[in-house]
Amino acid sequence: MTIYPIKSICCIGAGYVGGPTMAVIADRCPHIEVTVVDLNEERIAAWNDSDLNQLPVYEPGLDDVVARARGRNLYFSTAVDESIASADMVFISVNTPTKKKGVGAGQASDLRWVEACARQVAQWAKGHTVVVEKSTLPVRTAAAIKAILDTAKSKSDNAEPLSTFSVLSNPEFLAEGTAIRDLEQPDRVLIGGNDKDAIEALATIYSHWVPNRKILRTKLWSSELSKLTANAFLAQRISSINSVAALCEATGADVREVALAIGTDSRIGPKFLDAGPGFGGSCFQKDILNLVYLSRHFGLSEVASYWEQVVELNNWQQNRISALLVQRLFGTVTGKRLAILGFAFKANTNDTRESPAIRISLDLLEEGAQLAIHDPKVASTQIALALGKAPSSSSSEIKGEGSWCFATTVAEALQGADAVLILTEWDEYLTLDWSSLAGLMRAPAWVFDTRSVVNPVEISEAGLIMWRLGEGSD
Ligand code: UDX
Ligand code: UDX
Repeated sequence: MTIYPIKSICCIGAGYVGGPTMAVIADRCPHIEVTVVDLNEERIAAWNDSDLNQLPVYEPGLDDVVARARGRNLYFSTAVDESIASADMVFISVNTPTKKKGVGAGQASDLRWVEACARQVAQWAKGHTVVVEKSTLPVRTAAAIKAILDTAKSKSDNAEPLSTFSVLSNPEFLAEGTAIRDLEQPDRVLIGGNDKDAIEALATIYSHWVPNRKILRTKLWSSELSKLTANAFLAQRISSINSVAALCEATGADVREVALAIGTDSRIGPKFLDAGPGFGGSCFQKDILNLVYLSRHFGLSEVASYWEQVVELNNWQQNRISALLVQRLFGTVTGKRLAILGFAFKANTNDTRESPAIRISLDLLEEGAQLAIHDPKVASTQIALALGKAPSSSSSEIKGEGSWCFATTVAEALQGADAVLILTEWDEYLTLDWSSLAGLMRAPAWVFDTRSVVNPVEISEAGLIMWRLGEGSD
């Protein structure tokens, strides 16, 4: 029994992290009332939609979890103030993008929404409230949140009991596409804080489905820094293998063989060794840049440069792919039709934030190509937003230089194309019938596979020319 029994939770931010995380907590803890609030009315309406295909986040298994808990003890609402007032525990799960201007622009995290949330919590919370940082934050943000929350005390008059707060850091390690599995069977849950009772209150919630040995309790600053460090290490592995992929192409080695050979060393391990078009997603780049900014701030310029290189290599990898494609297509793609297969930053998500497909597509549009873009889960409107450019009305209408259209099927994308560029490893692309698709393309036609999803033998039997990332020729 903890001294802060939690009967009601409010989570501010119904995004990729807040929505699925709270759905799983509500599912596993039917005795706790969980309300997820967001300023965005459309998003909340989508979370409440009776058609579970309309949920704003696509995650395998999420619909089942929401179906079980929604309306029972899981609610989605725009009533932020009321929900804070009735909560024993408030999670802050709003976005923290990289700052675009001002001090730290391009590297530091923009904390304006976190600060706004803290002020709102300070104003509306009643009694003792445990405030949990779910958003990934720079180290020592908890101190700033606590300072804002403590202003609530001074405002209380004698008529109202004092509002008091404990602040915890509980970073989320879920990966998109596997969010439900990651939440239900986490490698670990990390809780950082100074108030042992508050830590136990949160640990008790997780203990309904996570073994106690997997619940790590740390200092606040260790917890905040661990999240940035975990993402930096993962991203570093990808930049490392991508750097080796380029070396494989130059030397006649094969990156898949190298990855297998090094990954079987138990000290290295097999995960996160897939070479690809570069990492995307809302976290890796943002968190490394944040680490770089923090390091510089503390005068550790060598540390900053070390991590900065991981992002630089990632940018280089993306530019390298578009440049290489242009070079193979006889030095020009102007007016040529290219099929892009996959726009999401990875398979099994509809998220396109920082997707390598964005930079690569923009490079190719700049070169004057006509792109026919296909993705099984990303809508045309979202691609238009990411590219900052409206599509042609239909894929047969696409004309001129530097234009794009949305293709609803792979065959439609390939119609009349000089090349196919595979950028996301969707299952659907593993089983394409190249013998029939090849006939739709203009010869000599190319397949550029950045995700190792196609079988090179099938490609050459279909009469297509193959380029695979990380594969050199003898
Ligand atoms: C999360 C984390 O919170 C972020 O720190 C991490 O690094 C990436 O993942 P995510 O859930 O992916 O963010 O963000 P997003 O899908 O943009 O959702 C954030 C939600 O917060 C949005 O729906 C937005 O409308 C909402 N929001 C933002 C508020 O309700 N109030 C605000 O003041 C700001
Ligand atoms: C990541 C972290 O994994 C997660 O713990 C954290 O909470 C949020 O950031 P996410 O961005 O959702 O999760 O996906 P992840 O699976 O880590 O992939 C990130 C990017 O790296 C994707 O673009 C993916 O395609 C790429 N990647 C991943 C590779 O190129 N090769 C790999 O071997 C693995």
